[in-house]
Amino acid sequence: MKLLTVIGARPQFIKAATVSRVVAERDDIREIIVHTGQHYDKNMSDVFFEELAIPKPDYHLGIGGGPHGQMTGRQLEGIEEVLLKEKPDILLVYGDTNSTLAGALAAVKLHIPVAHVEAGLRSYNRKMPEEINRVLTDHAADHLFAPTQIAVDNLESEGIADEKVHLVGDVMYDAAVFYRDLARKPDWFDTLPVSEGGYVLATIHRAENTDDPKHLAAIIAGLGASEKAIVLPLHPRTRMRLNEFGIEPASNIHIVDPVGYLEMVWLEMNCSAVATDSGGVQKEAFFHGKPCITLRGETEWGELVTSGWNRLVGAERSAIATMLTNCSVPEKHEALYGDSNAALKTVNKICKS
Ligand code: UD1
Ligand code: UDP
Repeated sequence: MKLLTVIGARPQFIKAATVSRVVAERDDIREIIVHTGQHYDKNMSDVFFEELAIPKPDYHLGIGGGPHGQMTGRQLEGIEEVLLKEKPDILLVYGDTNSTLAGALAAVKLHIPVAHVEAGLRSYNRKMPEEINRVLTDHAADHLFAPTQIAVDNLESEGIADEKVHLVGDVMYDAAVFYRDLARKPDWFDTLPVSEGGYVLATIHRAENTDDPKHLAAIIAGLGASEKAIVLPLHPRTRMRLNEFGIEPASNIHIVDPVGYLEMVWLEMNCSAVATDSGGVQKEAFFHGKPCITLRGETEWGELVTSGWNRLVGAERSAIATMLTNCSVPEKHEALYGDSNAALKTVNKICKS
């Protein structure tokens, strides 16, 4: 079987690392990797291929930046060309980025079956570009790999046929379990005035936060007002917007460049709490037993909120500062995301399709 995988953004490299490792161990399936180029800085792309041993992409389309319609359209065109040449048996996409949607659309139009890993997530906020990407991708897909029962229920309520949906668990949990022993302290860590176990790890990159000066200013002010030491590996989009809007972070906020996954896991394992608007980082806080406040008004990972691991604070200065000062973890740490064999189950299903 010839599997063609489309990836392009940071979290997709991490998810793909788990599945590609399983694929590489089998001789009944061969993988062709297409990198759209959506993320292109070394520390947003190459670092993950190097440290997670992801096979080098067979095709690199070099399509990143620009407005969403243009990016998605150009990626669709580029992927279609590769599909026509490679004629794969199945196409695999991850998550909810523009690269995900472009891959799914290119394949369905050529009648190539689509497999979607991380299917069925919903924030029910249609203003998020990711929400549109995930809904459309799910409705185009033939094999929907859901990480949780809630995701399965969401797909059922949208009328997607049961037999297409497979509850396999979350490949990001597979990654957390596989890589935690390889976690690495960043070289710069000891140069900061922060101690192991004594800092909040923050990330900010959602368009709704970064592109709205009021939201971005409120988040930075809330982190500053908490007076906790904050370590903030900053997405390039957010750094650009801070400069553009002239927002000056308080002195307790330590901004660093984006880090590789192994350093990120170390930062997650050694922090006191997490503040984030990232989907993946919300779950990783839970995987590593840390309390999390989410800098959004809703989340597609609702089970983290109902189980008490995550608190939604939005882009609200005082809620951020107060919740950061008071957050703690619940006593119970349930298994919400499967048994760390999601990638194996996914590949087994794909091979039987
Ligand atoms: C994208 C995904 C989002 C995902 C995130 C992961 C969409 C709609 N959004 O958001 O779902 O959570 O990736 O990080 O697909 N930039 C650089 N260097 C890079 C990458 C980006 O400078 O390597 C800058 C560019 O100015 C670019 C901007 O960041 O225009 C935004 O990048 P883009 O990929 O459009 O969106 P993300 O916010 O990264
Ligand atoms: N991540 C990383 N380095 C960073 C920030 C995040 O390796 O500087 C990892 C993080 O551990 C998680 C993934 O990137 O596995 C999440 O990606 P991101 O927050 O960009 O996207 P989202 O999950 O919101 O789609």
